[in-house]
Amino acid sequence: MIKLDKVSKKFGTGVFGLSDVSLVVDRGEFIFLVGPTGSGKTTILKLLIRDILPTEGSVVVSDFDVVNIKKNNLPILRKKIGVIFQDLKLLFDRTVLENVSLPLEVAGKKPEEAIKLVDDVLEQVGLLDHKDKFPVQLSGGELQRVAIARALILSPEIILADEPTGNLDNDTSWEIVNILTDINKKGTTIIMATHNEDVIKTLGKRVVHIEKGKIVKDEKGHSSFKASEGQVKKDSKKHKEEDKKEKDEVS
Ligand SMILES: Nc1ncnc2c1ncn2[C@@H]1O[C@H](COP(=O)(O)OP(=O)(O)OP(=O)(O)O)[C@@H](O)[C@H]1O
Ligand SMILES: [Mg+2]
Repeated sequence: MIKLDKVSKKFGTGVFGLSDVSLVVDRGEFIFLVGPTGSGKTTILKLLIRDILPTEGSVVVSDFDVVNIKKNNLPILRKKIGVIFQDLKLLFDRTVLENVSLPLEVAGKKPEEAIKLVDDVLEQVGLLDHKDKFPVQLSGGELQRVAIARALILSPEIILADEPTGNLDNDTSWEIVNILTDINKKGTTIIMATHNEDVIKTLGKRVVHIEKGKIVKDEKGHSSFKASEGQVKKDSKKHKEEDKKEKDEVS
């Protein structure tokens, strides 16, 4: 469970990133954080991974008091959370495989074990054929999938996705969202900051609206019905791909 209780964040500049925000996200939920630019979405995500500390209030993630967490528990907390950063934070002098295996190296996994895990996760995001490429050789959607793969590699309980469909076309956005939906179906909690109205409306998940650092609306989802619509989109795309493959084979 994730719980922010009366959280405020005043930056050194005097700007309030968040003011008196309380939010509970249950295990296994998929929620959207929406709001205008500068409203505080990234600030919430940064507080959850203790990238920044609140000025007031408490932050609890998976039973850890994030603000007062003991130093040796911080790596344990961070392993529970996979983050897809707004600016991706990929290493441009490393290949896809090296970028994705970085968290495993840090966690001290044996190379044999790491290779299998990386292959599994690259297959999951459809990047197995690109594993030896460098980021400059990839499209925006492919880069986004590298960031997802890296976030997934340690099988986190929670994924924080900060505008993962920003700058992507509609089809590619849906590919990314479908990957996240599949991950969520396996039990991973997902918090996704987004401006993508089409995705928000179609999926019908819980939507938390933020404006000027405050939660102004919290709409409950009705995801069981709408999620199947997302699945339809995914299936229709899959079928289109299968049709194309068949056509290519025939010609
Ligand atoms: N390190 C910082 N120092 C000072 N002010 C900051 C800092 N980080 C964010 N802010 C300010 O806090 C507010 C919230 O920023 P935040 O990045 O959370 O917005 P956002 O909702 O993620 O916006 P976007 O949709 O553009 O990504 C903004 O006014 C921003 O300028
Ligand atoms: Mg942001």
